[in-house]
Amino acid sequence: MSSLPHAQISARLVDWHAQHQRLLPWREARAGHRDPYAVWVSEIMLQQTRVETVIDYFNHWMTRFPDVEALAAADLQTVLKAWEGLGYYARARNLHKAAQQIVTHHGGQLPADRSALLALPGIGEYTVGAILSIAFNQPEPILDGNVKRVLARLFDIDQPINEPTTLRKLWEMARSVVESAPTGMAGDCNEGLMELGATVCTPQNPRCLICPLLDVCAAARSGKQAERPILPRRKQTPHYDVAAGVIWAGEPFRSKLLLAQRPSDGMLGGLWEFPGGKLEPHDADLPACLRREIAEELVIEIEVHDLLTTIRHAYTHFRITLHTFHARHIAGEPQTLGCQAWRWVEMTELSAFPLPVTDQKIAAALNEARLSLQLPSQ
Ligand code: ADE
Ligand code: SF4
Repeated sequence: MSSLPHAQISARLVDWHAQHQRLLPWREARAGHRDPYAVWVSEIMLQQTRVETVIDYFNHWMTRFPDVEALAAADLQTVLKAWEGLGYYARARNLHKAAQQIVTHHGGQLPADRSALLALPGIGEYTVGAILSIAFNQPEPILDGNVKRVLARLFDIDQPINEPTTLRKLWEMARSVVESAPTGMAGDCNEGLMELGATVCTPQNPRCLICPLLDVCAAARSGKQAERPILPRRKQTPHYDVAAGVIWAGEPFRSKLLLAQRPSDGMLGGLWEFPGGKLEPHDADLPACLRREIAEELVIEIEVHDLLTTIRHAYTHFRITLHTFHARHIAGEPQTLGCQAWRWVEMTELSAFPLPVTDQKIAAALNEARLSLQLPSQ
């Protein structure tokens, strides 16, 4: 299939994209140019996250941090707060760190250079290709989930697409396509490829009849669209029960409660949470688990009261059921053993802290419980 007409593919993608692309805020050009900072921010947000979700976050972000300097000068808590709910918080921490490096080493402008970009935190092969092609019109390839699927169908690839040898082939194909794009059209060609995957060559029921590549598509020719791409078999994701506590300093709803900040390097790093942890086989029950976790993480003694709410949540590699209890502080000054900071806060202050989605749900349940008890907020 190596004789497929790449120049034809790229030309069709560029034409199709010009007519059918969605109007998205990061696609606005100023004086014929896309702002490299906006391209970078949008591409990072779009990793793992749907376009419809990203739009509002992107607009808010660009108002809050309009350029690299503004982002570099912001404090990390403000940055995490603007990212709250998007997930994969390392993306926000890396944007912030990279912005500071761009100010220090590149005069506040994103470098139009592969190795300089790759040296920045959070920028990998995909993001480099997106920035170089979309913002700087360089014929550099991109390969995200959508592009892999389109290429696997177009070239009828019969190997699992996430194996190293297949990935190498896919990158070569993506490169051949973008290198054959008309001069100055590399970004439109790449975006066309992603957009085609998002709107036409979809995982289920691709709309081949309206596809601009139908007559050059090897999978469509042999009716194999539904069998491409070949995906490696997914293992079942593990499930954990987790206990968390709304730990009141005194009377429930009338005193302060304890928030802990997660270590900055791990999952959800730097976010604040209602402290707790995973149920272990040796825990007698969930309240015992919570007392143990709080003793290990904060070195204080608590008394566990009623269940407030139970929340299910799916992360990429595991699922949790989060059982949240009211609890009361009994003894000891909190220590930062399993967290990087802790704070006693008023219920009304909760919205000022960047919280994981699960803990936002706990905060909402807490508010509802307060309302149903007809207690005024202090
Ligand atoms: N997904 C990731 N980047 C994208 C882009 N530039 N256009 C459309 N979908 C995308
Ligand atoms: Fe995808 Fe169908 Fe177009 Fe082939 S013809 S690229 S399978 S939408």
